[in-house]
Amino acid sequence: MKIAILGGTGEQGFGLALRFAKNMNHEVIIGSRKEEKAEDAAEKVKSVLKGRGIDANVSGLGNSGAAKEGDVVILSLPYQYSSIVKELKELLAAKIVVSMGVSLATVIGDKPTRSLPPPQGSVAEMIREKLKDSRVVSAFQNVSSEALENLDNPVDCDLLVCGDDEEAKSVVMTLADEIPGIRTIDCGELEMSRIVEQITPLLIKLNIKHKIKLGAGIRITGI
Ligand SMILES: NC(=O)c1ccc[n+]([C@@H]2O[C@H](COP(=O)([O-])OP(=O)(O)OC[C@H]3O[C@@H](n4cnc5c(N)ncnc54)[C@H](OP(=O)(O)O)[C@@H]3O)[C@@H](O)[C@H]2O)c1
Repeated sequence: MKIAILGGTGEQGFGLALRFAKNMNHEVIIGSRKEEKAEDAAEKVKSVLKGRGIDANVSGLGNSGAAKEGDVVILSLPYQYSSIVKELKELLAAKIVVSMGVSLATVIGDKPTRSLPPPQGSVAEMIREKLKDSRVVSAFQNVSSEALENLDNPVDCDLLVCGDDEEAKSVVMTLADEIPGIRTIDCGELEMSRIVEQITPLLIKLNIKHKIKLGAGIRITGI
């Protein structure tokens, strides 16, 4: 599968690129506002995996090139900049678009342990409003970049996945379940992302309070 990660030059994108490119059946395309920066990030991913004997298929492109190439397109941008996806609306039509953004209050200079949801109720719903023709799925908000980047350990976290397109949700769940340690849980409609996104500030608080280096995660019992 071709997995494009827009803004994949950041920490979370790097971690996801590493985890997905480990599976040589996937092609990972890192997107950036600057193609050169994306190419550098792709080289970094390839070099880490080469050190583990994996010849990964990773490349870097501008965000629009990456959006065009990907079967699944992950938005790895701070949520307040997700407005750029509107410019990519045509390219993203009919594609599976993963919303991973969390609306932390840092956008107004407040604490990362507080959230400031957009008027649509959640970042995922905001993205769906902008990309009416795409198949928006919400996932990966509660997984830390540190845990993703640490290839020596499984990611100790359940992944809460929300979406109104059952088939798209199932594709994203199958992809995420490939990451060692992750267990995906279907949480129902996209609007459930309102609650999932609110868990992240709590996890940030736990990281600070308990000095958790690889990032706190969550596990749901009883399923
Ligand atoms: N970090 C985590 O542990 C974590 C955990 C859960 C969820 N998330 C979510 O994952 C997403 C990415 O997180 P991150 O920590 O990787 O973010 P980040 O490093 O702050 O930013 C990711 C990328 O966004 C692009 N970007 C920055 N400013 C931009 C702007 N004004 N317009 C367009 N693009 C811009 C940059 O790429 P270019 O300069 O290359 O264009 C940057 O490398 C966010 O939505 C975050 O809420 C992160």
